[in-house]
Amino acid sequence: MASHRVVCWDCGADVGDPYVYLCPRCGGLLSVKMDLEHVKEMEPKDLMKEPLGVWRYAPFMPVDPSHRVSIQEGGTPLYDARRLAADVGVSEAHVKFDGLNPTGSFKDRGMTVGVSRARELGAKVVGCASTGNTSASLAAYAAKADMKCAVFLPSGKVAAGKLAQALFYGAKVLSVDGNFDEALGLAREMAEKRRLYLLNSINPYRPEGQKSVLFEIMDQLGYDVPDRIILPVGNAGNITAVHKAVMELEEVGWIDKIPMLTGIQAAGAPPVARAFAAGKDDFVPEESPETIATAIRIGNPVNGRRALRAMYDTGGSCTTVTDEEIIDAQRLLGKTEGVCVEPASAASVAGLRKLLSMGVIDKGERVVCICTGNGLKDPDAIIQNSPPPIPCGNSVEDVERILSS
Ligand code: F0G
Repeated sequence: MASHRVVCWDCGADVGDPYVYLCPRCGGLLSVKMDLEHVKEMEPKDLMKEPLGVWRYAPFMPVDPSHRVSIQEGGTPLYDARRLAADVGVSEAHVKFDGLNPTGSFKDRGMTVGVSRARELGAKVVGCASTGNTSASLAAYAAKADMKCAVFLPSGKVAAGKLAQALFYGAKVLSVDGNFDEALGLAREMAEKRRLYLLNSINPYRPEGQKSVLFEIMDQLGYDVPDRIILPVGNAGNITAVHKAVMELEEVGWIDKIPMLTGIQAAGAPPVARAFAAGKDDFVPEESPETIATAIRIGNPVNGRRALRAMYDTGGSCTTVTDEEIIDAQRLLGKTEGVCVEPASAASVAGLRKLLSMGVIDKGERVVCICTGNGLKDPDAIIQNSPPPIPCGNSVEDVERILSS
């Protein structure tokens, strides 16, 4: 573990109290500042003794690995998606399938570090608001760490698989009369009263674990930096974490090129994309976000300003995709690559398609799409958008008749 400080992202003030989630001086967001001096002496191969996964990158993490709470997260495949690339018309496309994490989403990367930090602090109760995946992940890691867990979910808007996970792992599942933004407000109030240790991405330790997806992509590509990385944007923690990882790799001298970070939002929940289109540094919250991609059904993203900075600073881009484009992309990934992702994750592929057609992405680019969650999380979205099962009798003749029709 490198030494680190928690600082305000806006005014740079040092923040010492681990139960404070906004800068006491200016109200800004908090960020971990790693001291990477000793990593500058190292090379990527020095980390290869550890298996591919979050803790291979311990020198970039602000938690002592001896406190680690792990279910072997990370180490997910990076597919060379040739059929997908041919279909959408780009020279090289890779799919980083983070739906193959222990609880089926990228959240496990942040949660192993966040809950390890909670253990380090001696926290007994952890909590988060969630559109589903964060709660599934936190519930699992809290179980593993023997901590109490409360999750705040927008009532009726969480995919079945995710809800089942939070219940299964024994979290107190609170169904909030409101959307994600309101659920987060409630969770933050409880954290301010110090009733729980909050593990949303407003906690600066969680995005630190999420940096590992970028480190893994670099390892898997042999440090041949892709032109562009595309990912869905909801609360905007992940794109912020990926940006931080890119900047840290540049700082230690392991990369000399910066990939264009490109965020995709759902058309019904577009505050960051709208601000990007207007060239603004800040966004106007969306009052009533709505999309089939419930994971990114968020109107007031905590890290929205940082997402905008990530895209501007890397020469990236941002756009929205409709629910129809999301479902088409989800099916395309299944049909061409045998990969089943949830709707929010398909947004990255839908965004690739759209930005190619707009000429924003050049067809000669090498692109990585991060697919954040497993399709099995949300079976309803798949069943509702697939042809129904074919009623069949119980004879070979029945089957032959159906197959030949
Ligand atoms: N993809 C999936 C599958 C998600 O679950 C989320 C966020 C995102 C993308 C967007 O990531 O918020 O870092 O921009 N899910 C959160 C949750 C909000 O509560 O599970 P982000």
